[in-house]
Amino acid sequence: MILQAENIVKTYTNGVKRLTVLDGVNLSIGAGDIITIMGPSGSGKSTLLNILGTLDNPTSGTVVIDGNDISAMPDKDISVLRNNYIGFVFQFHHLLPEFTALENILIPLMISGIAKPDRSRALDLLDYVGLTERMDHYPSELSGGERSRIAVLRALINQPRIIFADEPTGNLDEYNASKLIELLKKINTDFEHSIILTTHNPVVAQIGNINLTLEAGKIKTG
Ligand SMILES: Nc1ncnc2c1ncn2[C@@H]1O[C@H](COP(=O)(O)OP(=O)(O)OP(=O)(O)O)[C@@H](O)[C@H]1O
Ligand SMILES: [Mg+2]
Repeated sequence: MILQAENIVKTYTNGVKRLTVLDGVNLSIGAGDIITIMGPSGSGKSTLLNILGTLDNPTSGTVVIDGNDISAMPDKDISVLRNNYIGFVFQFHHLLPEFTALENILIPLMISGIAKPDRSRALDLLDYVGLTERMDHYPSELSGGERSRIAVLRALINQPRIIFADEPTGNLDEYNASKLIELLKKINTDFEHSIILTTHNPVVAQIGNINLTLEAGKIKTG
């Protein structure tokens, strides 16, 4: 197992109101798995993904990544782990508007402290998705589908073990959504990255070898 989450509880408190979004979630990600999480809006899919991806803390429960219990780690070690081990793809891609496609892909390397990163892997990845000719375009000069593919490449540049994708196709038309799904599947086959993604789309969920549903704070299989 490359990630194990045990008995994850997440409670938000707003004034006197308490909202338990996750109520004892258990989940394991194995090497090469594609795990999909469906569930109604507000069921806690993004919350769960953020906790598994170390972007947020659970109220209680443990997340163990590569044998490391996250709750026992200092923040700076968590950042290093996140940089080396995890890639994120978000629904609204979050590309930085003042950087070109190529520069956006290189950003995780710069965050890792490499001032002048080797561009060759980024160029290989651009070629892999057929976007070499778009490498000098700014995000505003790319189509929605192209932006989402660039966002996937940015998540891949550090060769993470796990890719977290929160509704990666939520913003795309059917054609571009299926292209993105094909790309994720290809990445999973070619590079053996594990992928965990949330979606509202049952067709998208079919790429998973493990299909989960989040409802009333609990995970169900299928
Ligand atoms: N910081 C917060 N404080 C209080 N409540 C929050 C906070 N963040 C999220 N919530 C609530 O937690 C619940 C789960 O939110 P989350 O974003 O995880 O849902 P989701 O399943 O991803 O929904 P969607 O499918 O619409 O993206 C929602 O009801 C939301 O209102
Ligand atoms: Mg969400």
